[in-house]
Amino acid sequence: MIRNIDKTVKIIFIIILFWTTLLFGYALICDPMIGEAYTGSFAVKDLSDGWTMIASDGSEQTVDLPLSLHETEGDTVILRHKLPKDVRNGMRLCFRSSRQDITISVNGRVIGKYSKNNFMFKRKMVVSAFLLVELHDEDAGGDLEIKVTPGHTGSGRINAVTYAYGNNVWFPYLKDFLPLAVMAFLLVAIGFVTVFVYLIFRKNPDVSASLLYLGMFIAIVGMWVASECFIKQLYFGSPSYSNIFSFVLMEILAGFAAMYFNEVQAHRYEKGYVIISVIILLQVLINSILSFTHLVDYYESLFLSHIWSGIFLLWTLITVIRDIRSGEIKHYSVNAVGMLGITVSALFELIDFYSGATRIGIFLGCGLLFLLATTIIQTIKNMLARAEERRVRSEKMNEMTFQTIASTIDAKDEYTGGHSERVGEYAARICKKIADKYDFNEEDLARIQYIGRMHDIGKIGVPDSVLNKKGKLTEEEYEKMKQHTAIGDDILKNLDTIPGLREGVRSHHERWDGSGYPDGLKGEEIPLFARILCLADGFDAMTTDRVYRKRLPRERVIEEIRANKGTQFDPELADVVLGMIEDGELDC
Ligand SMILES: [Fe+2]
Ligand SMILES: [Fe+2]
Repeated sequence: MIRNIDKTVKIIFIIILFWTTLLFGYALICDPMIGEAYTGSFAVKDLSDGWTMIASDGSEQTVDLPLSLHETEGDTVILRHKLPKDVRNGMRLCFRSSRQDITISVNGRVIGKYSKNNFMFKRKMVVSAFLLVELHDEDAGGDLEIKVTPGHTGSGRINAVTYAYGNNVWFPYLKDFLPLAVMAFLLVAIGFVTVFVYLIFRKNPDVSASLLYLGMFIAIVGMWVASECFIKQLYFGSPSYSNIFSFVLMEILAGFAAMYFNEVQAHRYEKGYVIISVIILLQVLINSILSFTHLVDYYESLFLSHIWSGIFLLWTLITVIRDIRSGEIKHYSVNAVGMLGITVSALFELIDFYSGATRIGIFLGCGLLFLLATTIIQTIKNMLARAEERRVRSEKMNEMTFQTIASTIDAKDEYTGGHSERVGEYAARICKKIADKYDFNEEDLARIQYIGRMHDIGKIGVPDSVLNKKGKLTEEEYEKMKQHTAIGDDILKNLDTIPGLREGVRSHHERWDGSGYPDGLKGEEIPLFARILCLADGFDAMTTDRVYRKRLPRERVIEEIRANKGTQFDPELADVVLGMIEDGELDC
């Protein structure tokens, strides 16, 4: 009943999820319904067509924006346009500088200025940024003039001009760049969380320092993407300052990647990675000196760092190929896939960067998330492998310990050499036969074998004179002999890691009819393992030579088991053993 309700509820949930997903998808792509405000209602007007451009050589032409010029550094381009008649108080004009000094004026009055001279840490050129200037009723129909002076040769992209009420000018950019900004801050957060996770678990030998460097690598990329994102002016109070360091972040990225790869490859190629790191640091130092002495801007010297990064990626690929050939790759196969991913994404990022992309960092960010995922999988894989190794080792140690104990017991009893070892073996075989009925797994079979080996451990406490007596035991001696079950139980009282061990040792001389010892248990009161041991013990006694008699022939063994079925032995188990003798699975 409950199960049916549960099933129905789950199906309903899935239907709701499916339906919601469909509606969600449709809402994203469909046209707005009548009267419904929608994302496009943050009206932004375009003022990009029909500009008069006066180039630095004085030539005049009509152009549409955006456009690319190849002006030399310091040359000034003047752009003129009539402001539309619908310009009102509260409107703003929006124009983006591409590393250019900009002056905006209306009717000869300067209303906006963006220049490197306005900044502390004055560099050779200003960073790219959006400029927003206020418009007024009286500006309607006025003469708009934008003066553009490139910061370096080639920074001649003249961007589109838009205007709108208040901050509406931001909405087209928000729509395009918000996901990237979210990704950037997510990367920063993930990066620091990864570092903290490493710091918390660093004492665990399965947690590699690669996690620490990966965390820093991710955080650095996140900060770089955040400081390059087009809408950074919405979250940085002074966005141009964030850019002072932005290029340095980009230049040192490869250094963090080197530290990470070095850890993953277990320091096999350390020398190479150290050389690369030193080169990267020197390059950053040189670039910084050049930038702050206003000789060469970071932006202009960035390509040198990119060349080193490219060589570094190539070197990493070579080391991975070497590891594939030598077989070392098996220690970090999952990581290697992530490394390949980050290499490919870095190449795409570089290509994208030099082809004038605006969504900077998107490839690298995705590549990093992929790398993080592979690193986590690799860490889990290593942990599981290590745990399995430990398990196998401890099992082997158990096995050896029990074997030693079994030999010790058997050494004390000079007439039954190998008895404990054989009882363990027979008990395991019987258990295997009934495994399906009792749901025994491999571990249970190993366990009954251990218990079998230990079943007579109490004989250690029985005097040798009794244990090895050639003639018939007196009443008193027999009582002493019987004590080996309780003594065994007592010896093992602190060994509670093997379930069934104490019961097996204590009760292997109990009889199905209740006439056994030490507790006189009856039928199914006797623990199953003890009943199995009783049969294995009896079978071995019958099939080996003893002081008081020779081993019994096969027919007698079968006869004896049949005769004692239901009195000494569990009848069901006795049938199983008889079947096994019949099928040759137990030799006698
Ligand atoms: Fe025994
Ligand atoms: Fe025994």
